[in-house]
Amino acid sequence: MEVLIMPNRKAATNLTAKLIANKVKTKPSCVLGLATGRTMEEVYDELAAMKLDFSNCTTFNLDEYIGLESTDKNSYRFYMNDHLFKKINVKLYNTYLPNGMAKNMKEECEKYERLMADHGGIDIQLLGLGKSGHIGFNEPLSSLFSRTREKALTHTTIEQNSPIFDKPEDMPKRALTMGVGTILEAKKIIMLATGKDKAEILAKAVEGPITSMISATALQLHPSCTVIVDEDAASLLTEREYYRWIFQNEPEWEAFR
Ligand code: GLP
Repeated sequence: MEVLIMPNRKAATNLTAKLIANKVKTKPSCVLGLATGRTMEEVYDELAAMKLDFSNCTTFNLDEYIGLESTDKNSYRFYMNDHLFKKINVKLYNTYLPNGMAKNMKEECEKYERLMADHGGIDIQLLGLGKSGHIGFNEPLSSLFSRTREKALTHTTIEQNSPIFDKPEDMPKRALTMGVGTILEAKKIIMLATGKDKAEILAKAVEGPITSMISATALQLHPSCTVIVDEDAASLLTEREYYRWIFQNEPEWEAFR
């Protein structure tokens, strides 16, 4: 794992978008793993503004609420169409999310796993960080080997996400999510976290012991995971100086400085 500290949210967002854009340019038929949440909105704005060719890309999202139609403005399908897909030339039939309205959830999850495998797996997976330490909707005690499945949401997550709903009490309490094991199979992972309110959970995720209580700690096991943060989110990391040195000095990042 490596941590890149950017001076502010804009710079962190910009670097994240550039890394995704590089993949799309170097492998036009790439498979992108996408995330939702407020943090991602600016990443998608930047990606859309870059006018890249997504026509051969396939995308798989991490998760979807159970019980929301794709036309519901709080569903993650709606979010993705609205924030990204309608602004780029990806073919909508190449964009996948788990179907939170499926009749048989177990079959839906198995189908989703099979689809990802049939496409050769995820080339680059984008992740946000929930305040409960989740990636996707892998709430505390999610097995580090877990696969796509149904998951009940914690109070922390409901508190974090329900203000987005017109009636907060309408937020579904359950979701379908790729498992931690599914996410760890992506060839490359980028996690983006910004803002002071992520500082505490980020420090645990990056520098704490690996535990199923904080599924983001499992990223420490991944051979190619880049965590991009702003100064606010980085404020509780003990090795901040070292991480800053890496970005300033490692040849890999020269083109991005
Ligand atoms: C939701 C998603 C997560 C995302 C998180 C972060 O809970 N299921 O995948 O990482 O939101 O949200 P935000 O960016 O709004 O803090």
